[in-house]
Amino acid sequence: MSATLRTVRSHDCGQLRSQHLKQEVTLCGWVAKRRDHGGLIFIDLRDRYGVTQLVFDPADRAVGDVFEKASKLRNEFVIWAKGIVRARPAGMTNSKLPTGEVEITCSELVILSEAKTPPFQIEDDIDVAETMRLKYRYLDLRRGPLQRNLLTRHKMLSIVRRHLDENNFCEVETPILYKSTPEGARDFIVPSRTNPGTFYALPQSPQTLKQLLMISGMDRYYQVARCFRDEDLRADRQPEFTQIDIETSFLDEEAFFPILEEMVRKLWKEVLGIELKSPFPRMPYKEAMERFGSDKPDVRFGLELRDLTSVFSSSTFQVFQRALTKDKRGFAGSIRGIVVPGQAEKFSRKDLDDAQAHAALYGAKGLLWIKVQENELQSPASKFFTDEEKAALKKELNLQVGDLVLIVADPKNKVVFDSLGALRLYVGNKTGVIPKVGEGAPAFLWVMNFPLMEWDDESGRYFACHHPFTSPRPEYFDDFIAGRNLDAIEASAYDLVLNGVEVGGGSLRIYRSDVQAAMFKLLGLSEQEAQDKFGFFLEALQYGTPPHGGIAFGVDRLAALLCGVGPIRDVIAFPKTQRGHDLMAEAPCAVLKEQLDELGIFVLDSAKKS
Ligand code: AMO
Ligand code: AMP
Repeated sequence: MSATLRTVRSHDCGQLRSQHLKQEVTLCGWVAKRRDHGGLIFIDLRDRYGVTQLVFDPADRAVGDVFEKASKLRNEFVIWAKGIVRARPAGMTNSKLPTGEVEITCSELVILSEAKTPPFQIEDDIDVAETMRLKYRYLDLRRGPLQRNLLTRHKMLSIVRRHLDENNFCEVETPILYKSTPEGARDFIVPSRTNPGTFYALPQSPQTLKQLLMISGMDRYYQVARCFRDEDLRADRQPEFTQIDIETSFLDEEAFFPILEEMVRKLWKEVLGIELKSPFPRMPYKEAMERFGSDKPDVRFGLELRDLTSVFSSSTFQVFQRALTKDKRGFAGSIRGIVVPGQAEKFSRKDLDDAQAHAALYGAKGLLWIKVQENELQSPASKFFTDEEKAALKKELNLQVGDLVLIVADPKNKVVFDSLGALRLYVGNKTGVIPKVGEGAPAFLWVMNFPLMEWDDESGRYFACHHPFTSPRPEYFDDFIAGRNLDAIEASAYDLVLNGVEVGGGSLRIYRSDVQAAMFKLLGLSEQEAQDKFGFFLEALQYGTPPHGGIAFGVDRLAALLCGVGPIRDVIAFPKTQRGHDLMAEAPCAVLKEQLDELGIFVLDSAKKS
């Protein structure tokens, strides 16, 4: 190594052990801590690989002004140091550090960069507002937990790539400046300067592109793909996020799932050392909704939903009667509940009000509670319960004294399921029956046979439950072509769920242009709209399309689960806030008037204020 190159290192800060004793080494890194002790200066030097202790001793004559320089070091200075590896004195070793048996007595020191005092300590455990951490994300990313998360995410993607490569999948990049690819969110649009008045849309997913790659004969495709969706954000949603996007030709679920499960098994084995059982269990959507009130059920605990419609079918309680009255389209709702064993006395009035408020977020117009007592059922609606109903309820739910029953009734089953599904998680958290993030055995589950379409009262039309390219299951083909019993048609669509988180979703696709055109029509698109939006795609389907299907996994969600963290922000290097802001770079932001003029865009004052 050249003596003048005092910016390069012989080892990293996580590398040195007793076997290196007496070697001369050079290290580079950040000052994590300086301690002045008994006339000596100790520096904890940090880099991505670990921490090594440097010692500066004024008694060492060879050191010269080095000690003085060391006394100027502050946290986060970047330095280069040269010295000899020696054993730490007896009793001074640090068993928590892999390098804890050695230290470097330094003879040379170069300060490569000084650092301002950071706005927060760069330590593993800090109690700092997340907005501050996001503003100084590059400092936050120096902390051990975030570095480990990024490394785990990287490891995860390299395992995925290796697995898919081994299985003949070819990674193909698809455009970001493209055209609307509907996945149920709004598009982010980008104005085109060279084609004034026209816009690109950023892909919500590479859905149509990967299908076109199947038409082109690529056979097996994957991409670590960035997706963009303008939708309301939550802890597990970002406006831009990453998918492991996969598509194959000539495979059905039975041939496809084992390839995917093997990929997931490798991830858990190689990252966490956990052996997952295969095949993963499967559950029809209908069962998931009826038992758990969710299409992404957390099956690690009970509190399952129970159908009480038949118990209360002749009830005089108006709330129940209303729920069972058929709507214009001939559909009635239901009365369902969950039993919380032994919690009757533990839920105060306020607890019940809070639970009701939580259910209301999902559309429930009320929450009826029943506390099972020795001789009676205590409830705000008890005067409406007949003796037969009480007996039937006790029998149906196998009620014991001290149990609490929470009931939602609504003319719309969606409201009943959504609110009870949410309440199940709420009560599960409150009563501590749900394993904490990162604890307990992982529960994978395929949810299958989703409905193809869902009716929306407000807009008076059907929406595709997955996306409009999803095929009906073969047994429903005739109904679909005839436009019959649309609400009952099941799709060849599937989601992979882990501990109640949807980590992936996909389907087998429509591969006939006439069937695809029929789908657009059923979804309320006029022929012209279908042509404008998807004409190129409908045409492509006419040039020899193989039966095909695929899936996309949410990289951020998978990484969060592998890292044992809650919000996906913690596994994204530069995430956005819940309001879609990048607090560090301050995006989105206004642009110069000249830029807008070039694009022919005029921004309303009213829009600027919001
Ligand atoms: P889907 O819309 O179900 O399917 O998305 C697939 C997976 O992507 C993840 N995901 C998200 N992660 C973070 N933030 C978001 N805003 C976000 N939205 C979705 C989820 C989800 O399971 N083209 C289809 C796939 C296919 O049919 O092959 C698609 O995008 O983990
Ligand atoms: P009300 O008839 O509105 O006074 O409600 C009587 C009880 O029924 C209250 O405890 C309400 O919370 C409950 N309740 C009202 N609407 C519903 C509903 N849709 N489902 C379940 N319980 C309800």
